[in-house]
Amino acid sequence: MTKEFYDCLAPFYHIIYGDWNAAVEEQATQLSTIIREYWGRQVQRILDVSCGVGTQALGLASKGYNVTASDLSPKEIERAKEEARLRSLNISFSVCDMREAYRYHQSQFDVVISCDNSIPHLLNDDEILKALKQMYACTRAGGGCLLTMRDYDKEARGTGIVKPYGVREDAGKRYLVFQVWDFEGEIYDISMYFIEEEQRSSTINTHVMRSRYYALSPNRLMQLMEEAGYASVTRLDNQFFQPVLLGTRAASYLVGAEGQKPPVQSY
Ligand SMILES: C[S@@+](CC[C@H](N)C(=O)[O-])C[C@H]1O[C@@H](n2cnc3c(N)ncnc32)[C@H](O)[C@@H]1O
Repeated sequence: MTKEFYDCLAPFYHIIYGDWNAAVEEQATQLSTIIREYWGRQVQRILDVSCGVGTQALGLASKGYNVTASDLSPKEIERAKEEARLRSLNISFSVCDMREAYRYHQSQFDVVISCDNSIPHLLNDDEILKALKQMYACTRAGGGCLLTMRDYDKEARGTGIVKPYGVREDAGKRYLVFQVWDFEGEIYDISMYFIEEEQRSSTINTHVMRSRYYALSPNRLMQLMEEAGYASVTRLDNQFFQPVLLGTRAASYLVGAEGQKPPVQSY
């Protein structure tokens, strides 16, 4: 369901934003400031496990980071590759479910990110923990994990909840963009609408895509980050358009005087 949703959304993704290019630039500046503050200027290698069309990956690569980026949706990855080509950016993009991130990438990075509410597409704590453990395995000792999500503690529950995004103009077309949410418990179905009007002919088309989210609280996600192994788990507000959750993989285990070996982990 999630893959189909984003495959259909890929060509429209930039329209969600008033100015997607400006958001790419602004989000990279904000994320880079946080990354440097928490993990230092030596951070080079970043893995984005839910890059979508590249909203964060493109901007971070343009700031000089070495970015590897993957996502569940092949169509989004196709578009992300094209966006990188247009900007002459060298980013390694591929299709991968974040619950398989380490098994697939088989490498460690300075920082692993998953931004703009991607994690809540996993519909229960066990699935989220699976993804976080794979992200942890992809994080080098002393490096970190950076997640951003909606603050579901501030969202009303109910059905037929309308979330307006606004009116956009793009390539001779005008779009009215909004979502409708229908909750059942802490899971909600989301319908994303693009009402598209061709301005010359006044032809109208409606595009609707449907997906599902788990409205977990940021506190619960922070607990799961700790369960996955991250230390110093922290929440930042007002530094990005969503709360930012950070965790650090403790620096390398030092072999003690008794010569103990580090515990063996399998992922
Ligand atoms: C709201 S979008 C954000 C994408 C991107 N970070 C951005 O801001 O443009 C959520 C993303 O999570 C991805 N996603 C959802 N479940 C996933 C999974 N299990 N593994 C990898 N990506 C996933 C979707 O395909 C989608 O690209």
